[in-house]
Amino acid sequence: MTASAPARARVAAIVMAAGKGTRLRSDTAKVLHPVAGRSLLHHTLAALEPLALAQVVVVVGHQAGDVSAHADEFGMDIVTTVVQEPQHGTGHALEVGLTAVTASVDRVVVVNGDHPMLSSETLARLADLPSGRSAILSADLDDPTGYGRIVRDDTGAVLGVVEDRDCTPEQRGIRAVNGGMYAFERDGLDDLVAAIGSDNDQGERYITDLVGLLVADRREVRVVTTHPDELAGVNDRLQLAQAERQVRRRHLDDLLRSGVTVMDPEATWIDVTVDVEPDATILPGCLLTGATHVATGAVVGPHTELHDSEVGPGASVRQSVCDTVRIGPDATVGPFAHLRPGTDLGPATKVGAFAQVKNATLGEGSKVPHLAYVGDATVGSGVNIGCGAITVNYDGVAKHRTVIGDDAFISCNSNLVAPVEVGRGAFVAAGTTVTDDVPDDALAIGRSRQMVKEGWAARRRDQAAD
Ligand code: UD1
Ligand code: CA
Repeated sequence: MTASAPARARVAAIVMAAGKGTRLRSDTAKVLHPVAGRSLLHHTLAALEPLALAQVVVVVGHQAGDVSAHADEFGMDIVTTVVQEPQHGTGHALEVGLTAVTASVDRVVVVNGDHPMLSSETLARLADLPSGRSAILSADLDDPTGYGRIVRDDTGAVLGVVEDRDCTPEQRGIRAVNGGMYAFERDGLDDLVAAIGSDNDQGERYITDLVGLLVADRREVRVVTTHPDELAGVNDRLQLAQAERQVRRRHLDDLLRSGVTVMDPEATWIDVTVDVEPDATILPGCLLTGATHVATGAVVGPHTELHDSEVGPGASVRQSVCDTVRIGPDATVGPFAHLRPGTDLGPATKVGAFAQVKNATLGEGSKVPHLAYVGDATVGSGVNIGCGAITVNYDGVAKHRTVIGDDAFISCNSNLVAPVEVGRGAFVAAGTTVTDDVPDDALAIGRSRQMVKEGWAARRRDQAAD
């Protein structure tokens, strides 16, 4: 009879996230650095989430307060944190992590917190090993420099892991690396972890020594292999940039497979937090970040920035910058529009070239085709806001609101000095400065009367010629 895996409810994960990340040369703790719009720590938690384990213990240390708060922000209720202070190495991190693991747990899956490409499927393979087995995740890397190497005997059985800096020249040639992910049986683990020494180049207690200790204790250590891409670890800024490219590419590939058209994946940057529905099109030069959502049939780009924004079905957004806005179905934005937080564009609206909209709603079919500023405004449906029209929302002290009724027409170069209201169907003549409310269906005109001086220009020309 083959041994079965312990139920996931008896498996805990320990995420090692206490290190400073010295090689990044940053004031920010390593696991807080973002890769494709999500921190290293949140990538790890996101990979663990679908496993539905009993518990996830995050070992924090460097900037413990910030990292703990950030772990909480992920919003997974099985996550707890424990502080490793000072940080004596990954073996020590495991020892500290184990103190927070509940008694009912039979197996721990230990995860380095700096591997954003790690998948849930691979973590599940470690969690679901048959009972009684320990395992180490590995891949054969073309360039194993910097990684611990898996040392085996003639029969292929694992003997231990040797860190890159502690390798003999011969060991340095081994391409099977330690991925930094492990599964250990809980039974007897505390004693073995306590036996981890610090006799190495860095004088730290390495989790990798546990492999040798398990072997010496006559326990079998399995090597679970995976694709090398998954083991992309982030120790320095070069690896951070490489991981950024890999994670983004994987997310783009997922979107392409799901039915999104991305004309040039090499020239498109989409955070892993961004959701794009099938049959949407993303043209080159776009940067989509945060909680952005693009609905089916929408066309975004070229050269458009969307942050925390929603693009409705069939809408089009060209050469524009949008931050925290909602763009309704079939709306058109750009080229060269700037939509700022609180903009809510209704169905079939239009915001065109060199228009800026902020904290304003536009009802169905309303248009701001060019060169206008609409801020702190409630605009009804069917409204036309002409070229050069401005809501004068700021008096140097406070912001005020402009309200424009359905089907009103705001002609070119008019100023609407807020707080002010333009009624339904009203007409504001070009060049008018509106300071008083305009009733429904009225005309507001406020500009100096034009004079015409017959022959004036001709006389001037004649004088200049004399
Ligand atoms: C580690 C492995 C190496 C493996 C590589 C894979 C050790 C000794 N070596 O090396 O064999 O090939 O990962 O990427 O484990 N951490 C703590 N507390 C500490 C020290 C580290 O929580 O006291 C955390 C770090 O924040 C990090 C993780 O443990 O998330 C790994 O530490 P790191 O220093 O990056 O180890 P590597 O040198 O990459
Ligand atoms: Ca590392």
